Amino acid sequence: MTILVTGGAGFIGANFVLDWIRSTDEPIVNMDKLTYAGNLGSLSSIADKAQHHFVHGDICDSSLLASILREHTPRAVIHFAAESHVDRSIHGPDSFVQTNIVGTFRLLEATRRYWGELGDDDRSGFRFIQVSTDEVYGALGLEDPPFDEMSRYSPSSPYSASKAAADHLARSYFHTYDFPVITTNCSNNYGPYQFPEKLIPLMIINGLRGDSLPIYGDGKNVRDWLYVGDHCQAIQTVLAKGEVGATYNIGGRCEMSNVGTVEAVCSLLDEMSPNAELTSHRELMSFVDDRPGHDFRYAVDTGKIEGSLGWHPTESFDSGLRKTVSWYLDNSDWIAEVVSGEYRSWIDMNYRSRASIK
Ligand code: NAD
Ligand code: TYD
Repeated sequence: MTILVTGGAGFIGANFVLDWIRSTDEPIVNMDKLTYAGNLGSLSSIADKAQHHFVHGDICDSSLLASILREHTPRAVIHFAAESHVDRSIHGPDSFVQTNIVGTFRLLEATRRYWGELGDDDRSGFRFIQVSTDEVYGALGLEDPPFDEMSRYSPSSPYSASKAAADHLARSYFHTYDFPVITTNCSNNYGPYQFPEKLIPLMIINGLRGDSLPIYGDGKNVRDWLYVGDHCQAIQTVLAKGEVGATYNIGGRCEMSNVGTVEAVCSLLDEMSPNAELTSHRELMSFVDDRPGHDFRYAVDTGKIEGSLGWHPTESFDSGLRKTVSWYLDNSDWIAEVVSGEYRSWIDMNYRSRASIK
């Protein structure tokens, strides 16, 4: 038996691959295009493990997909590969349409053909996990109940719209072809190996360098945070026990305002890496022009996955954030590698034009 993951050199995919190797003997094939967000350095600890087989390739490449499936005969596909950053989708939506929509379509189509040729037992045991986001549901007001699996899709950024389109395609393959798709919609992840364009690693890295901590708008926007290891465990649970055709929301029951999140990072930096020139890292917080179309609040009701599959997050925000800050403190080589050329141009472009507003 073997499983195939896409995007396993990215943040969540790499954590999933590392956890998989730690917890099972089953081979894992990992196909990744190695965009700016993909990094084989995140997988260096398993470089000598024959259980992990890396293929450099694009999910838009139908013939490569067909040959990987033919050669490795996986029992499941876990689809992580995506363009994943909202701000980049605002600056350049093309690659989001290409990878998230066209790429998901090509992967679904290649996998459906492969699955159609399996024997009865292998066909009935096969699973395709569509790893998605809570952002497909749109934004909530402060008093609204969290999204559940029946909530209407109402995406509002090019990123979330492209993920919503991919989810619809995946679901249509279940309804039309009985292709065994399960969709997971997860809230914001944080943890080791996250590319420092996203809020938490950006704040840790800027804070360590004594650079400013740019908070969009008034910082009152709310996100639900889940430690990446808990997300990976949820996906393993869905793969093992999830109902074909179903959707599961995954989250940390941990809603925080962005200001609250950045303050929590600052408190840990004050404790774990004090800066003699600052009383607190909070002095570095700076409010800047808002993100266009900035969704106010995301939150998900996780009752379904907790009640029917028995999954629960194991990390609190305090314990998960402490592990995360500690990981970045211990991994300066990984940081140095990812904050090179392309990263600098992105930071310059995204933040240069934002005026300080407070
Ligand atoms: P990431 O941006 O860190 O990694 C994406 C990976 O996909 C990279 O390794 C990249 O090289 C690869 N990739 C991109 N285009 C590709 C292509 N055309 N072919 C093959 N590989 C390609 O993303 P992430 O944060 O690890 O997210 C993984 C998945 O989880 C995404 O589908 C995302 O929508 C979803 N998700 C993320 C979060 C989050 O908070 N990060 C929350 C919920 C859901
Ligand atoms: P992000 O990590 O990009 O995830 P998402 O937009 O998918 O939720 O951003 C999390 C929140 O933090 C979001 O409300 C935007 C905000 N944010 C900032 O205030 N400053 C920043 O520099 C970044 C990257 C994000």
